[in-house]
Amino acid sequence: MSRNESRIAIVGGGLAGLAAAMRIAEAGKQVDLFSLVPVRRSHSVCAQGGINAANEVARQQGYSEWLHMDETLYGGDFLAHQPPVCEMTAWAPKVIDLMDRMGVPFNRTPEGHRDLRLFGGSLYKRTHFAGASTGQQLLYALDEQVRRHASEGRVNHYEHWEFLWPVIDDDGVCRGLVAQDLRTMQIRAFRADAVVMATGGCGTIFGKSTNSTICNGAAAARAYQAGVWLGNPEFIQVHPTAIPGQDKFRLMSESARGEGGRVWVPRKEGDTRDPRNIPEDERWYFLEEKYPAYGNLVPRDIATREIFWVCQQGKGIGGERMVYLDITHLPDATKKKLYAILEIYEKFTGDDPRETPMKIFPAVHYTMGGLYTRYEPRDDNQGMVQNAPGNMMTNVPGLYAFGEVNYQYHGATRLGANALLNCIFDGIFCGPSVVSYVDNLERGAADQPQSLFDDTVKQEEVKVKELFDAQGDENPYLLHKEVGDWMTDYGTVIREENDLKKTIDRLQEWKQRFKRVKLVDTGDWSNTNMTYARALGDMIRYAEAILLGALERRESRGSHYRLDYPERDDDKFLKTTIARYNAAEDSTELEYEEIRMGLVEPRQRTYGKVEAADSKDDAQERSGAEAAKT
Ligand code: FUM
Repeated sequence: MSRNESRIAIVGGGLAGLAAAMRIAEAGKQVDLFSLVPVRRSHSVCAQGGINAANEVARQQGYSEWLHMDETLYGGDFLAHQPPVCEMTAWAPKVIDLMDRMGVPFNRTPEGHRDLRLFGGSLYKRTHFAGASTGQQLLYALDEQVRRHASEGRVNHYEHWEFLWPVIDDDGVCRGLVAQDLRTMQIRAFRADAVVMATGGCGTIFGKSTNSTICNGAAAARAYQAGVWLGNPEFIQVHPTAIPGQDKFRLMSESARGEGGRVWVPRKEGDTRDPRNIPEDERWYFLEEKYPAYGNLVPRDIATREIFWVCQQGKGIGGERMVYLDITHLPDATKKKLYAILEIYEKFTGDDPRETPMKIFPAVHYTMGGLYTRYEPRDDNQGMVQNAPGNMMTNVPGLYAFGEVNYQYHGATRLGANALLNCIFDGIFCGPSVVSYVDNLERGAADQPQSLFDDTVKQEEVKVKELFDAQGDENPYLLHKEVGDWMTDYGTVIREENDLKKTIDRLQEWKQRFKRVKLVDTGDWSNTNMTYARALGDMIRYAEAILLGALERRESRGSHYRLDYPERDDDKFLKTTIARYNAAEDSTELEYEEIRMGLVEPRQRTYGKVEAADSKDDAQERSGAEAAKT
């Protein structure tokens, strides 16, 4: 195809989508950029703590790109393919340099170096940051670059448009997409020589999470139902420190601990004293005690489980499901670096965290699994072939997945501050792969018959009509609440065979009940009632893949903790889960794929835990508490 004719659709206006749009537009291609919300409100804007990379200051402590790779693989309990992780961590310093040149106001040391903070899963300071609103600063910088290309006519923004379905031809090749204007409710097809899904995570399936409510996984679930496989859907990250709220959880960044914040509970159970009046020796800093090397900065799954167990034993604050995150002892200059998050805490709780310890609890935060993608490894295994068309392409030719919706890089747990890196890296490294793919196409989207696009539009119009016509008795908001409660109770921190089976049975019932959803608003202008309900049907399909993946993975690995299979089982499960949707049966089918290793040998993931600190009494109480739960 001639270079100038190519047109590429990007779905998602967060960091991955914007970085891809920038690179692809730079290559002279036309980009159509779709986003549910104005791009500056994409969920990337909520990322707080930072972005990891080796730099010269970190190198002086002995850090390196190789160590960054090693930490990422160890953190992910060796479930990630190694060449892509090697490539991403090798590119990390270049990503930081690029963003710096674009004007991101990274914090600096007095000498003018980019400052670094500690973050989970590392003993080295290697996290770059812009106060505690790093995602916002990165997003705005990339948005400005993309707007420049838009002003030159190479990028069209479709803000307030929802992705509904990929257009896939009879040969199984992606030729575009169907989307809906969320104001006029017009449904229309867009031809595209390649489509990049950069649609983020699926936390809203769990009801309340730290994710924006638009992060419901519906776009990924639609691609899945259209034939794109999911990789490792069972791996969901729970962040240890969030502010519990009636409507949702709000992230309280790991950077609070990275800057010296401490997690504790009163030693005396049921102690209801003002925390400021509890003396040091009456506080239990349980993470520091159990993990002397990493302390409060053990990876998220470990910190989360410890907090969970402490609370299950009735040792949470006042016996409730909360622990303290304390930054009151930090110097004012450090508190200033955390301003953005401290302001959030104060706004939503009314308490000033500079003066009084914060009350926090774990919450669903990140989706390690996602759309299954492939890559082209280099001959020496130490990375990916640059510009290879296959990098981060799904099993459907022409359909790519970048950023959080891409299952690569993080394995069984993502380390904090590796997500912003993964998103920007996918855009700038794999964007050119999309360009290579379209340049090598013999026939593009423009050569496809109109009927291919019209049929997909019709399919989506019929779905909307069916929702409007349904005369059932199910309230979609209440049904979603039930889905979220069950998914949270039985599908997150602690999983167990009977609970998972029970939830999968329940899910079959949700599918039936979804057919009886009744909409109170059938208007044809900005109908959020319809879009919410439609997404719920897709979330239920995604939830099935999560639960089935969790049921069949009879081991514990990273964020996936099975009470009945507490050990990692490399012989059986050092493998990627692939979930395929069976459209005829409306069901999920699983298979497993070997992981490409070769750079780092798997080792036990202990983070130097001191077993004695997890006393026998604790362990007994823990199994008692868990037995009581089931
Ligand atoms: O805790 C945080 O600031 C979150 C960062 C991340 O998820 O990478």
